[in-house]
Amino acid sequence: MKFDLQYTDPKTNARAGLITTAHGQIQTPIFMPVGTIGSVKGVQVSHLKEDIKAQIILGNTYHLYLRPGLEVLERAGGLHKFNSFDRPMLTDSGGFQVFSLSGIRKITEEGVEFRSHIDGSKHFFSPERVMDIERTIGADIMMAFDECPPGTATYEYAKNSMGLTHRWLDRCIKRFNETEDKYGYEQTLFPIVQGCVYPDLRKQSAEFIASKEADGNAIGGLAVGEPVEKMYEMIELVNEILPKAKPRYLMGVGTPMNILEGIERGVDMFDCVMPTRNGRNGMLFTKDGIINMKNKKWEFDFSPIEANGASFVDTLYTKAYLRHLFHAKELLAMEIASIHNLAFYLWLVGEARKHIIAGDFSTWKPMMVKRLSTRL
Ligand code: GUN
Repeated sequence: MKFDLQYTDPKTNARAGLITTAHGQIQTPIFMPVGTIGSVKGVQVSHLKEDIKAQIILGNTYHLYLRPGLEVLERAGGLHKFNSFDRPMLTDSGGFQVFSLSGIRKITEEGVEFRSHIDGSKHFFSPERVMDIERTIGADIMMAFDECPPGTATYEYAKNSMGLTHRWLDRCIKRFNETEDKYGYEQTLFPIVQGCVYPDLRKQSAEFIASKEADGNAIGGLAVGEPVEKMYEMIELVNEILPKAKPRYLMGVGTPMNILEGIERGVDMFDCVMPTRNGRNGMLFTKDGIINMKNKKWEFDFSPIEANGASFVDTLYTKAYLRHLFHAKELLAMEIASIHNLAFYLWLVGEARKHIIAGDFSTWKPMMVKRLSTRL
């Protein structure tokens, strides 16, 4: 994997770059739609590629390991072949989902014992096991196995947890280097900075992660219940330490506003379930603010979903029609909202990139943040 840092904004830390993987290139800053079980919920690959213009999507180790399982994925020839998305993919390691989804879990130095959220069966993830699973899934970018404590974790807990994540990282790197890709193309491993909201831990973690000289680095453990200002403070602190010549990925973030704040602080990659999950509940993000599509207000509004929207659904359907579909619990409502929101997120990061390159990101961004926060 290669990263070319193409432009750096002179007034902020925003950057525009180009990542090259075996499955194609990614222009940064980028948003990565979440395809937990291999599919971006409710969205066809054709829409994902042509309309939403997704350059990279995410898969999840925890979910894919439980279902369909490794034998299916291996015999399919990896996730790209299995789901027919032939562009770059990244797999999260399960370091987040094991903690948020599985009921009973036991963390030891060796790894994590957990129960499947599907059938209650018992499983064990170690850093080595997760590397083997991510090799079998075959994403271009594999995430290291980490522990992601809640934003409310005590200093003591955060410190011990960060130490464990670092020791697990060394085991991940060792296993990654001892194994090979299974499908004839290169995979790379991104380590993850932890340390909760504690500046000295974040600094220590960022220094440890930077010393590994990986192709890219991630910032984890944020947007997990801490105040948003703390999150921005931690991003700033960590990005002062992480190498400038490598892409930086802020995991699980966030609202359109959070993404612009992240870009301003030097983040290159984002992922979040918000555009699809909130979309399925009737929340639409637009250039002029947030719409609750279920509101009575839209009952007789026959104007387009978004007149100058980023996707074909925006002018093909009206607000009144989409509201009707939501009230009727029609599947199509969720599909339209997911396509709309993802196209909007991809449009937003694309615009940010254009403004970074044009040199006016620092004036465009505050104007956009104001517009995005409006409730329509
Ligand atoms: N997704 C959101 N935050 C995290 C994190 O801290 N670790 C991992 N592995 N995934 C995440």
